[in-house]
Amino acid sequence: MSSDPEAVVNTAPLATIREIGRYEGQTVTIRGWLYNLRESGKLLFPQLRDGSGVVQGVVVKKQVAPEVWDAFKGLTQESSLIVTGSVRADQRAPGGYELDVTDARVVQKVPEDEPYPISLKEHGVDFLMEHRHLWVRSLRQAAILRIRSEIEKAMHDFFDERGFTRTDPPILTPAACEGTTTLFPVDYFEEQAFLTQSGQLYIEATAMALGRVYSFGPTFRAEKSKTRRHLTEFWMVEPEVAYATLDDVMELAEAFISFIVARVLERRRPELETIGRDVSRLEAIKPPFPRLRYDEAVAMLNDAHAKGELENKFEYGGDFGSPDETYISSQFDRPVMVHRYPAAVKAFYMEPDPHDPRLALCVDVLAPEGYGEVIGGSQRIGDYQLLLDRIRRQGLPEEAFKWYLDLRKYGGVPHAGFGMGIERAVAWICGLEHVRETIPFARTLHRLYP
Ligand code: 4AD
Ligand code: MG
Repeated sequence: MSSDPEAVVNTAPLATIREIGRYEGQTVTIRGWLYNLRESGKLLFPQLRDGSGVVQGVVVKKQVAPEVWDAFKGLTQESSLIVTGSVRADQRAPGGYELDVTDARVVQKVPEDEPYPISLKEHGVDFLMEHRHLWVRSLRQAAILRIRSEIEKAMHDFFDERGFTRTDPPILTPAACEGTTTLFPVDYFEEQAFLTQSGQLYIEATAMALGRVYSFGPTFRAEKSKTRRHLTEFWMVEPEVAYATLDDVMELAEAFISFIVARVLERRRPELETIGRDVSRLEAIKPPFPRLRYDEAVAMLNDAHAKGELENKFEYGGDFGSPDETYISSQFDRPVMVHRYPAAVKAFYMEPDPHDPRLALCVDVLAPEGYGEVIGGSQRIGDYQLLLDRIRRQGLPEEAFKWYLDLRKYGGVPHAGFGMGIERAVAWICGLEHVRETIPFARTLHRLYP
């Protein structure tokens, strides 16, 4: 053991725990943190984690230098350290391998009088959220973040393979896209600006330039609702397609979700296992997804109320509440696409249904297992005058939408798209109780820390 922090422990090759199996019988170096330590007389069993996985080390007192033994003995949880040892296959070990430790160097020891606050026992959620900067190290949280990253990669691959160009919309915007009640105001050189609620209006412009586009970025809603589905800052992926109809984007949404779920099953099985996800529920996610008109969904809710399965009677014309969405989605084993809601409860830019203009050509995709709406999309209004009327009726600042109206003046075409909040998708795919665990640092009503 060396006390020189720059010194390499020895020349053993650096390995990650995820790939440790490749080094069976060889000596390797692992750089990480002490996850847990079990002591048993002249044997120590440190569990090491390095961000890629966890492996159990074995330290035998009479086989290591006294400094190495002393370094491990009583070593505090989450101390950082570099360990060298030889890799041995062991069927009883969680990852299939153990590390017979030969050398080690502690990089930073967590003080004994100020131990790591998150022990391996249960903690309350408020405490964990206060310590989110440390909580992300837990195996479960790290697995969720890896699945989130995989989903992001999958979604880029999906759109890339289908000829979409990623275009990045602005975050600072002059006006609302999704209703004026959830805007976050920003002082923009003495002018009023807002954090974006959705990139949609801007990617409608780039879709007219590039045909098929998508955006992925942070979006903001000053949501007063404190639910397990709402964040005030979340990341939305939004495709927008020129010459597309509602049916086209419903097909796209179905293919998109199926692709993402299949990718997670293919590449993130160990993580799904770490978090205890029932993968059979995910294996059922294959097209075609059931499609329900809004009025059919309402009939379903009314039946459920009559049978006593739903407490409140749903009134035709409203937007679905959480219990309604949960009920509808619980009737199916895969996401259900509810389309043609009353225009009155949806955004100003949605194309009316030509068969009944009181309805909008829109779709909400409800995830199974009670996860509610993961995707919202629609065909966009094509007609200049109709769009102008809608903007006026909503009391939106006309000046700020002049450029948006231009898109209906200069080569307007039918077009459609959707948005998926990736936190909702991650919560569903991981089977989590709350979206706060799907993002490294969640922003919710009244929580801006850490
Ligand atoms: O249904 P929304 O409001 O649709 C739009 O913003 C459209 N402009 C999208 C488009 O057509 N390009 O939001 C889309 C999705 C929702 O289905 C949900 O997954 C997510 O964004 N979302 C939220 N996620 C977490 N917290 C919130 N407060 C969310 N609000 C919406
Ligand atoms: Mg919506």
